[in-house]
Amino acid sequence: MSRITVWFIRSSLAYFGIGVVIGICMVFYPGMTGSLRFIHVHLNLLGWISMMIFGVSYHIFPRFSGKQLWSEPLAMWHLITANMGLIGMAVSYPLRGPANSLPDALFIVFSILEAASVFMFLINMFATIRAEV
Ligand code: HEM
Ligand code: HEM
Repeated sequence: MSRITVWFIRSSLAYFGIGVVIGICMVFYPGMTGSLRFIHVHLNLLGWISMMIFGVSYHIFPRFSGKQLWSEPLAMWHLITANMGLIGMAVSYPLRGPANSLPDALFIVFSILEAASVFMFLINMFATIRAEV
């Protein structure tokens, strides 16, 4: 497995652990559900589920298509920005203040970073599986 696959799988497993612990916290303390639900949902869906899919995709799609991954550096940027974006979103979401406040701006910046990371994946995958015509 490549370094990128290994680190996506490690990240995914870590987010799964944290996401489930937060789920249990919400079960015991329903009053905390407010911000925790957003964090729980995104650590589980962007962290555990998506990052597992990213890691496995970087391993299997080049093999399925019989080609090299289109861009290793782009995959490395994807790994970095996906983690920075998700952690930033999780930390800044509960701190958000009124519109145009600094924490609000931070949440927007991390959200855009996370969305950008997704597009890095899409570009790399489309280019990797592109049919040779
Ligand atoms: C032991 C594991 C888990 C526990 C104890 C748990 C617990 C919870 C709790 C208490 C809520 C909030 C419900 C409410 O709003 O009152 C919730 C919401 C949610 N959880 Fe989990 N969860 C677990 C695992 C997962 C996993 C693995 C996923 C996804 C892969 C997930 C996805 C979601 C989603 C999407 C919501 C939001 C649902 C909605 O919009 O109403 N959860 N969970
Ligand atoms: C760049 C990526 C993403 C951003 C910036 C983002 C942002 C948001 C925001 C702002 C909300 C509303 C929170 C609120 O009610 O205050 C939300 C809710 C939600 N998002 Fe995302 N999201 C992203 C990706 C995803 C993905 C990939 C999934 C699923 C695979 C997902 C699943 C959900 C769900 C289930 C809710 C409802 C949570 C709840 O019940 O409170 N999101 N998201």
